[in-house]
Amino acid sequence: MTDPTVSIDHFLLNLQLPAQPETLYEPIRYILKSGGKRVRPKMVLTACGLCNGNTADALHAAAAVETLHTFTLLHDDIMDNADSRRGYQTVHKKWDTNTAILSGDALFAFSYGLIDYYGKSPDYTKEQYARLNHVFVDATRIVCEGQARDMEFETRTDVSVDEYMLMIEQKTATLLQASMQIGAIIAGAPDVLIQKCGEIGLKAGIAFQIQDDLLDAVGDPSKFGKKPGGDIIAGKKTYLSALALQSAPSEIRAELSLILQQKKATDQQVDFVIKVYRDYGVLEAAENAISDLYTQARNALSTFENSIYKDEINSLLDQLMIREH
Ligand code: IPE
Ligand code: IPE
Ligand code: MG
Ligand code: MG
Ligand code: MG
Repeated sequence: MTDPTVSIDHFLLNLQLPAQPETLYEPIRYILKSGGKRVRPKMVLTACGLCNGNTADALHAAAAVETLHTFTLLHDDIMDNADSRRGYQTVHKKWDTNTAILSGDALFAFSYGLIDYYGKSPDYTKEQYARLNHVFVDATRIVCEGQARDMEFETRTDVSVDEYMLMIEQKTATLLQASMQIGAIIAGAPDVLIQKCGEIGLKAGIAFQIQDDLLDAVGDPSKFGKKPGGDIIAGKKTYLSALALQSAPSEIRAELSLILQQKKATDQQVDFVIKVYRDYGVLEAAENAISDLYTQARNALSTFENSIYKDEINSLLDQLMIREH
């Protein structure tokens, strides 16, 4: 298989974006060029191969999930008031909020345009296209539900770990699940395989977000590409804060809760919160949860016949497990 990152990057960077209006398309070119791990499009392509499809057929869908993901990032950075993304200034800081909203909207439209390709191509049945479209539309809506919960949780101090798990399943894991399912649908796989592929994406996606929370607190800032401690300063409910608020001694919980609610933690307060996470076993619990979930993803993958694509997905899961950004 050709290196999926090369084909995806080539496809994305060659999207024929109009030159004008510059304030709409320049931020899109900027974010598409800024890198990114391309996890979701890699999943689309390899899931297609895993189900005996031709990976080149899945390129439009791979680009569709990546542009949809990129749209969520532009809007998420406004919602989280984030300064940096992939080691660069966020679009709403480099330009302004309205620019980031609108460029995100245009990316959203592009993503649906790319899915449309399968409706027009004679190589896909009406049922296949309807299924693909349904997965894509549903995933889009569920990501919004997850983002709404994420926002609601900022003002609550009683968010349980279970509620948090539902929120990240929606805001993050759903799109990885959909990516795997879409690859399988394009391959013409039967229901049972589409579902199995989805399970791999779902488990890996939940692990992926817990890991994102962990890296946000204790990752190497020079590699992570986002401001460290950003979630603590923004008062976010993460795996770490939800678990600490549920399990630390009550006086510690009260202090933690206050710091998160103020949404302007100082460097010392960020250090205090991270020390709480360390001292009360929260970091370790997060690491264990991540490892369990990746094992569940691998177990679902193990039910497929051996192939280069199965190896590819196993190595993608390896890379994700040790990722530092
Ligand atoms: C960031 O996703 C948003 C989350 C769901 C945590 P990625 O970590 O996949 O971001 P890029 O595309 O590689 O920058
Ligand atoms: C983002 O979660 C999920 C989506 C973009 C839908 P985060 O807010 O944790 O993602 P980062 O850390 O900003 O990448
Ligand atoms: Mg967010
Ligand atoms: Mg964010
Ligand atoms: Mg994050």
